[in-house]
Amino acid sequence: MHAFLKTGKLGPGDIKKPTTSKSKEGKAGPAPPWVEKYRPRTVEDVVEQNEVVEVLRQSMSGGDFPNLLFYGPPGTGKTSTILAAARQLFGNIYKDRILELNASDERGIQIIRDKVKSFSQLTASATRPDGTPCPPFKIIILDEADSMTDAAQSALRRTMEKESHSTRFCLICNYVSRIIGPLTSRCTKFRFKPLGQEKIIERLEHICKEENLVTDKYVLTKLVDASGGDLRKAITSLQSVTRLKGKDVEITVDDVVEVTGVVPDRWLNRLLEVSQGKDFSKVEDFVDEFLLEAYSTSQLIEQLNDRIIVSDDFSDKQKAVIGERLAQCAYRLLEGGSEYIQLINLCCVIMQANQRR
Ligand SMILES: Nc1ncnc2c1ncn2[C@@H]1O[C@H](COP(=O)(O)OP(=O)(O)OP(=O)(O)O)[C@@H](O)[C@H]1O
Ligand SMILES: [Mg+2]
Repeated sequence: MHAFLKTGKLGPGDIKKPTTSKSKEGKAGPAPPWVEKYRPRTVEDVVEQNEVVEVLRQSMSGGDFPNLLFYGPPGTGKTSTILAAARQLFGNIYKDRILELNASDERGIQIIRDKVKSFSQLTASATRPDGTPCPPFKIIILDEADSMTDAAQSALRRTMEKESHSTRFCLICNYVSRIIGPLTSRCTKFRFKPLGQEKIIERLEHICKEENLVTDKYVLTKLVDASGGDLRKAITSLQSVTRLKGKDVEITVDDVVEVTGVVPDRWLNRLLEVSQGKDFSKVEDFVDEFLLEAYSTSQLIEQLNDRIIVSDDFSDKQKAVIGERLAQCAYRLLEGGSEYIQLINLCCVIMQANQRR
């Protein structure tokens, strides 16, 4: 704690200092979380996003670096890719050559006018202090750009054009539709795909090897299932499981279930079983018991959806009816509906669908 406070003092107010303090904290203080420890260091380390990696590699070797717009779901490597590219381009002076602003910074129109504009007007030399050549531009990374106001985005348009001789922009967001048209048309767009199961497992296996963990592939598959293509989520869950069990004990499927909040299959089986009969009191008992276990009903609905879509026990029409109700219940839960009522409702619809077989 003391070390943290000390490093925290290093750079208030300085735009580049937060990155510095983070790495210092990593070395001196507690071990960094695995998502940071295993963040790709070079663009070649980035898994799955082949098109992006290829274009970036060519741009870096050719020296014609475009303005970039990365978009895609969380935990797919957007931030890591641009940081790795900057590190490769600028080497040891990369911290001086990037301005990283994310949603935790104020990014209204004033900041665009002040910080971004003044940083982009700085000149960047074509050599490093030690005399080696280096690309003569800086990169401004606007992470989580979809949370910027429209006015702030508009203010960027002119800056982006005027400073193109010495500055490149990289906008990063989850929802590309929230970026105004004039900005998207000034950038080369890249979609980051959710990572495939195989790739995530490979990465997790690599981490397990580095950390000397004992796991089998089936356990990792369960971990990946719960992550939905989000590598950050998968890595975080792996670390949580390890914290729960300790490094020397083999991780089991039950541990994964415990940490990720996945509803065990036996509950899904039981729900489908009680919904097959005509006995309402059994449904009620099931719902009471399920809610007592404190599992998330939204999670149950998601898993049920995956299960029913591929199930042979329901006709297409039954699947359509149940699917629609699953969506309604998920929506109502989001809006603050009662878990008890939604779950009873859902079971009754499945019951009805079963009777009409
Ligand atoms: N394609 C990838 N290759 C290698 N590691 C990855 C990849 N995607 C994610 N990771 C891992 O997940 C962590 C989070 O990735 P990153 O911060 O780049 O995600 P992001 O796409 O910026 O997500 P968000 O939209 O939430 O900001 C990284 O530290 C890294 O360990
Ligand atoms: Mg990010």
